[in-house]
This record gives sequence, structure tokens and C-alpha cells, in this order.
Amino acid sequence: MSIVKLARPEIQAMRAYEAAIQVDDTVRLNANESPQISPIGNFRRPLNRYPEVRPQELQKGLAARFGCAAEQLLVTRGSSEAIDLLIRTFCEAGRDSIVTPTPSFSMYWHYARIQGAAVIEVPTLVDNDFIIDMDAVLAACTENSRLVFVCSPNNPTGAPLPRADVVRLLEGRDKRSAVVVDEAYVEFGDQESVIDLINDYPNLLVLRTLSKALGFAGARCGAVAGSVDIINLLSAVQSPYALATPVVECVEDALQTEQLALADQAVENIINERQRLMTAVSAYDFVHQVWPSEANFFLARFADAEAVMQRCEENNVLLRHFGGDLADCIRITVGSPSDNDQLLRALDTLVGS
Ligand SMILES: Cc1ncc(COP(=O)(O)O)c(C=O)c1O
Repeated sequence: MSIVKLARPEIQAMRAYEAAIQVDDTVRLNANESPQISPIGNFRRPLNRYPEVRPQELQKGLAARFGCAAEQLLVTRGSSEAIDLLIRTFCEAGRDSIVTPTPSFSMYWHYARIQGAAVIEVPTLVDNDFIIDMDAVLAACTENSRLVFVCSPNNPTGAPLPRADVVRLLEGRDKRSAVVVDEAYVEFGDQESVIDLINDYPNLLVLRTLSKALGFAGARCGAVAGSVDIINLLSAVQSPYALATPVVECVEDALQTEQLALADQAVENIINERQRLMTAVSAYDFVHQVWPSEANFFLARFADAEAVMQRCEENNVLLRHFGGDLADCIRITVGSPSDNDQLLRALDTLVGS
């Protein structure tokens, strides 16, 4: 059963933008492009031409990497763009809502606010390693809750969402909400991606990114995977030519076997460093708690988080402090061994103060 009917009616009625056709070895006088080829850059495709409306090879490559069919995936400008597209596609301003556990990735709030959609927040269980209270999430949904965002492993807590809970949420919301599982950090954890479930659950959408495990945050490339009818809707909403030629070529290169092997090795190194850093940070007496993490960061509670932020900044180390319910917590990204050593040296200066 498709969930297309959950989308805004005007989006359901929309057709994709009809771009000028692009055929190799033709005289192309149909897109108001310049005939002049700039010498700038060293790209396989000429920059005087628009890129493909949707980059086909990249779509196939990312689908193969993430484990779905090419037509089940839309390439986006970072997974951030996918969040924006989903909220604009499904939520009518002033009427619909998204539901999300808290704390979580702030972009869900950000794009919901831009679209005029309400955000229903469901606190995670802080005393139980911030796990998501699925009963509470299901109970919080209303008939206008179009999207439920769950992030696994969650940012900023690092807590994973068990596959069985994802299935419970999918079945609990069935054709009443789309369930968006944000897997930005999945490569750093023990759990498999749930992307295979898109074949069984038409209300599942999975977000993936190249910004974390693959190390390409600067390329701005991500993807959303789901049933073909929803992917087609999202594609109709996305700007034509969304992915620039330099980005397309850079990511095509990043998906080559040797590059993927390097990225996998980098993930392994980060996981090892995460363990070393968490153990070292836990040992300071001004650190009250370090939560387990399946991501490339972890959250720690400090006696005086502001003093830690300031001292680290004085030592050229930037950490992330959120305030609110997490006012005494700091999120620490796992860096290179030398980055992490620099952090530990900065923390050493607080010992006994
Ligand atoms: C949970 C989560 N989802 C999505 C993103 C967005 O990533 P990008 O837009 O770089 O793909 C981030 C970035 O930090 C994130 O933490």
C-alpha cells in the first residue's frame, strides 16, 4: 500500500520539471548554454553544459553502495537536502507535524519551522542511555503527523535504534506516517542498515550521507532511499540539475573500490580511537558520565561544561555544547590520533582546578 496519498495534494499533482534533453554528439542549441569551454578545472564533462538533471551513474553507484535498487534512491545535496525535501513534500504549513525523539539532529526542527510544520518532541530515556521510548513515540503521533524522524545512531547521543523497534514503528504507523530513519552514522555502529526493509515497508525512507564515514562532507552529497513512487515525488520537488558536475565526478571517484577500501579503513581507525578517547575522557574526575556511542562522536557530562569548552577553545580545540537539557553535556567528535591527543592535553590542564 503506497503512502503517496500522505503527500501534499499539490505535490501529488505535480509533474517533474521538463529540462532540455541532453544527447551526446549533437549540436546542442536547446538550453541557452555557452559554446565556450572554460580551461578551469580538470573535469571529464565540460562545464559549459548543465549537468544531468539527475546523475544516473552516481545514482547507480550509491544504490549499489547502500544496498537498494537505483530507482529506489534519489541523490541529494547532503542528506540535509533530503530532510528538507521530505518535509516540503509531506507537510502542509499550519496543519501537519513531524514527530521526533529529543535530543536529536536539529535540522529536523529547522526545516519543519521553515515549512510551517509543527514538531512533536518525544524525550528519549536519558537514564537508559538515551534510548528511544517507542511506546511514547507511537502515542505522540496524531492524524496529521506526516513524518516520524528517527536517527540511528542518534546525534548527539550516539544511541542506536534496534531494528525491531524500527519495524514496530513502521507497523505502528503503517500508511498513516512516513518513517524516516536517518543513518548518517550507521557505518560506525554494530547495527546493519535497515535499507533492505524498503522492499517490505512502503512507509520507510532511509537517509544516507557521504559526509561522515566516506569523508566527503565538503562534496555535499547524500541520498534518500524508499519506495519508487515516493522517490519519484521527491525527485519532482528537487531542483533540476541539483548535483553540480564537479561534485558528481568527485563522488564517482570516491565510489571506486580502492577509495571505498580507504574509507572503510578510516572508519575502523575512528572506531578504535573512539574507544581510546572514551576511556581516557572517562578517567577525569570532572567527567561525570560518558555515554556509549555507535557513532564517530560521543556525549559526556561534565562538572562544569562551560569551563571545559572555554579551556579547550584556549587550546585550539573546538567541541560542541548544546545548552537546554544538555547544558552540562558536551559532544566530542573523534578526530585523528593527534587531534585526540591535543584534546586530552587540553583536558589535562583542568586536572585539580
Ligand atoms: C544525524 C544527521 N543527519 C544528517 C546530517 C546531514 O548530513 P549531510 O547534509 O552532510 O549529509 C547530519 C550532519 O551532521 C547528521 O548529524
